[in-house]
Formats: sequence, structure tokens, C-alpha cells
Amino acid sequence: MTDKIRVALAGIGNVATTLVKGLEFYQNSTEGLWHANVSGMTLGSFEIVAAFDIDSKKVGKKIGQVANSRMPFSEVTISPGLMSDPIPPHISRDGQVRTSSYDEIVAALRESKPDFLLNVISSGLDKTPEKYAQASLDAGCSFFNATSAKTVNEGTRKSFESKGLVILGDDLMSQFGGTAFHRGMIDFMTSRGIRIHKAYQLDVGGNQDTMNTMAEETREKKRNIKTESIAIESPYPFKSTAGTTEYAEQLGDSRVSYYWMEARGFLGSTIEMDLSLRTSDSTNGCNVIVDSLRAAKSLVVKKDLGKANIISAYAFKSPEKKAHIRESIKAFEDAFVR
Ligand SMILES: NC(=O)c1ccc[n+]([C@@H]2O[C@H](COP(=O)([O-])OP(=O)(O)OC[C@H]3O[C@@H](n4cnc5c(N)ncnc54)[C@H](O)[C@@H]3O)[C@@H](O)[C@H]2O)c1
Repeated sequence: MTDKIRVALAGIGNVATTLVKGLEFYQNSTEGLWHANVSGMTLGSFEIVAAFDIDSKKVGKKIGQVANSRMPFSEVTISPGLMSDPIPPHISRDGQVRTSSYDEIVAALRESKPDFLLNVISSGLDKTPEKYAQASLDAGCSFFNATSAKTVNEGTRKSFESKGLVILGDDLMSQFGGTAFHRGMIDFMTSRGIRIHKAYQLDVGGNQDTMNTMAEETREKKRNIKTESIAIESPYPFKSTAGTTEYAEQLGDSRVSYYWMEARGFLGSTIEMDLSLRTSDSTNGCNVIVDSLRAAKSLVVKKDLGKANIISAYAFKSPEKKAHIRESIKAFEDAFVR
């Protein structure tokens, strides 16, 4: 498959700028890629065709200036985004907000003709992702929601399918972040016949997104999504809590997840685990994004939209149909990599 994958970006923050840097780096390398080739496409297939943000310090700049990249698509200018929620405190505090109307966003998408609108706006905005999804549908492009807002359900999925498009979400699961690692540990322990009794995962991070997650309502929502995502790995229920617990500026873009698990083996012997995992937050989601967009592009081209649930189970913490982490990777690779 040689078609280009045209992407519009909503939210030019950590994830979007890291993705742009990655698309430049992977013109000449495959080191660090999870899957170099998905559905016959490499990272050379991607083109950024539009970009939106509401932060006036970013609006009007070229994407290459903000992401420090020199790709041909770096010349794309960041346009004012859509906003249907209260303005996040870090933006309203630091400067002016620039927004577009719904009709202007639809018109901008129709003009730039992306295959996908990739929604990577700030955490804690619940209504705006829904509006971006609606705008994508009206403009005729597919939608990918990395945020924890709920955008995918049977109704929205069918609306996208009726136009030959896909909607993917919700809440991106990083390649090797707190949730994926926690799920992998539970899968391994239960597959070795160990009985888990209690567990927790406490996340600490130092970037803007972690700070945005600290609002109690957002924190609670993210905690529920992570806890439910993890629960699927165990064949029996046990007391478990997982979530973003603290913002510590000195960690910068790093995120540290602290895990504790108490389990039982033969004769009720105690197995206790106490460990931590430190990762870079912004890079951790990018392999999953580029894999999903290539796979989804192939489904749209082949008009085989029913397989979109394989992508969502692989890429998100809160997909419409959840699957065990090991099975979701196998299903993805069987469908799109082998
Ligand atoms: N590994 C990961 O990085 C990861 C994993 C899971 C989920 N996510 C989610 O991805 C999203 C992006 O993460 P990030 O670290 O890049 O966040 P960030 O805070 O660095 O960047 C968000 C950007 O969105 C912009 N923005 C806010 N409202 C907007 C709007 N209405 N329209 C357009 N732009 C808007 C902000 O100005 C900012 O530039 C977050 O919701 C995060 O929770 C990221």
C-alpha cells in the first residue's frame, strides 16, 4: 500500500511535537520502532496536513518551529482550535486563547483533507473531543482520540462507518507505560497460577499533562479507567487501585509508576512485589499511534471497517471492546503486521 496517510493534529503539546520529531527521525532509521511496517506502510507514509491549538503562543507558528523539525510538512501553520470546555488553567493563566468556530474547523478539515484527525489535546476537557469527533465526521475524516474523554460508542462508531470512516479510542495506552506494564504483570502472574490478593499502582509525573490530571474530577476519572483496564487481565476480582497520584515538576517529561502486589502461592505462601518503572511520557505513546493510524488507513482503503475494534483494543485503555493485552497484540499483529 503506497497511499499517504494525511493527519490533522488537534493539540500541539508534548505528544504531537514528539510525533512530528519521530516522523522526521524515522525517514532514515527503524531503531526504536515497535513495528517498522504495518499494512505495508512505513513512517515515510505520514504527512501532517493541518494543526490546531488554542494557546496563542502556538497559534500562527509553523509546526516545525514548535516541534523543531524540518520536514516538508513542518511548514503547516497552527490554526486556532475548537473549545467547548472551560479553558484549562495553564492556558488561561499564561496568556491569550485563540479559538475557531465549529464551522471554521469543519471547513479547515474539508480543505486540508486529512485521513485522520488525531486528538491530543489537554487532559480534563470532556466536551471538546466529542465536538472534534463530530467535526471529523462532518468533514469526512476518521478520528483518533488519545484523551480520556468518551467519544467512542456504538452510535458514533456506526455514524463513522456509514461514511466509510473509523473512530478509534478512547484514552491512549502507552507502549510500555504504567497501565500496560501492570496488565502484563497480572497476566504473567495469573498464567503461572499465582493468586493475586491486593495491588496498587501510584503514578507520579512532571509534565503539563500530569499537572492537568491533578484536578480531582479528572484524576478520579483516569483512576477508574486505569483500574478497569487492569481488571480485565485477571480471571477473578481482587482489590486494586491505579492512577495518577502526584505532580512533581522535577520529573519533567518522566513518569514513575510505583507498584505493590500481594499474592499467594503453594500452601498460601506469600509473594510480595514492590517495584517502580520510570519511562518518558511523550515518546511512550508514539509507536502505538503510528501503528494504529497505518492499520486504520488500510481498513478504510479496503472498506473493512469491522476490524477497527482490533486497533482500539491494542491502542487504548478504554476501548468499546476490551481484550487481554497479550491477545490484543496478537490480534493486531495477525491482522496488520504478518
Ligand atoms: N503517553 C502519553 O503521552 C499519553 C498516554 C495516554 C494519553 N495521553 C493523552 O494525550 C493528550 C496529549 O498529551 P500531551 O502530553 O501532549 O499534553 P500537553 O498538555 O503537552 O499538550 C496538550 C496541547 O493541547 C492544547 N489544547 C488544549 N485545548 C485544546 C483545544 N481545544 N484544541 C486544540 N488544542 C488544545 C494545549 O494548548 C497543548 O498545546 C492528553 O490528553 C493525554 O492525557 C497521552
